[in-house]
Amino acid sequence: MRKKIVAGNWKMNKNLQEGVALATELNQVLTAEKPNCKVIICTPFIHLAPVSNIIDHSIIELGAENCADKASGAFTGEVSAEMVKSTGAEYVILGHSERREYYNETPEILKEKVDLALANGLKVIFCIGESLAQREANEQNAVVKAELEGSVFHLSAEAFSNIVIAYEPIWAIGTGKTATSDQAEEIHAYIRSIIAEKYGNDVAENTSILYGGSCKASNAPELFSKKDIDGGLIGGASLKTADFKGIIDAWK
Ligand code: 13P
Repeated sequence: MRKKIVAGNWKMNKNLQEGVALATELNQVLTAEKPNCKVIICTPFIHLAPVSNIIDHSIIELGAENCADKASGAFTGEVSAEMVKSTGAEYVILGHSERREYYNETPEILKEKVDLALANGLKVIFCIGESLAQREANEQNAVVKAELEGSVFHLSAEAFSNIVIAYEPIWAIGTGKTATSDQAEEIHAYIRSIIAEKYGNDVAENTSILYGGSCKASNAPELFSKKDIDGGLIGGASLKTADFKGIIDAWK
């Protein structure tokens, strides 16, 4: 059966000391009361190595928010998938709408990143989702399909088992506007159906598909109750232990 997951995406928040303090606190809370789902925190690069050393990886797994589209060499300022892996991280977020929009990451670039991440033993949380204009034009299914085809559907079924999908409607990110649970379920079911078309039912049933976009403790139980919603990718509400724990507890 596919895994239930609550993953945090800290984005560009927390200096080193604040990030270490947050991870330490979360580790204490979740060691004392074991979560009923897989918990992942995805942090800025600078936090990875120190956070990796203080968390119990059997309870909290660690991810980066990005990695380079090149393996190594003269690419000033970039951080490779191999470097991410060497910190002790298990995951990397790729395809986030903020990277696509502000840093011009195209499907081709993302495909390179996905391949390098997997080649270096990282699992990928691959983000897809439509803009408000695309939703209003009823293009959301075509958008998510093209995003999957552009960057992950070239993978073998075996490689694809290392991909977690995060559906994040851009209009719901950081806006306080969540997709209704029915809206989210409808597109999650569609995403699972196109994974089934490509890789067969078994792979589709084993793929975790997370919802992201203004997910919080108050709406997580309703969202997570839907059959094709396997958890959440959490931005703002992952920055405080109590808020994040509230979402994790939605699986209890
Ligand atoms: P918010 O939870 O802040 O809306 O962000 C969602 C997100 O982008 C997670 O990757």
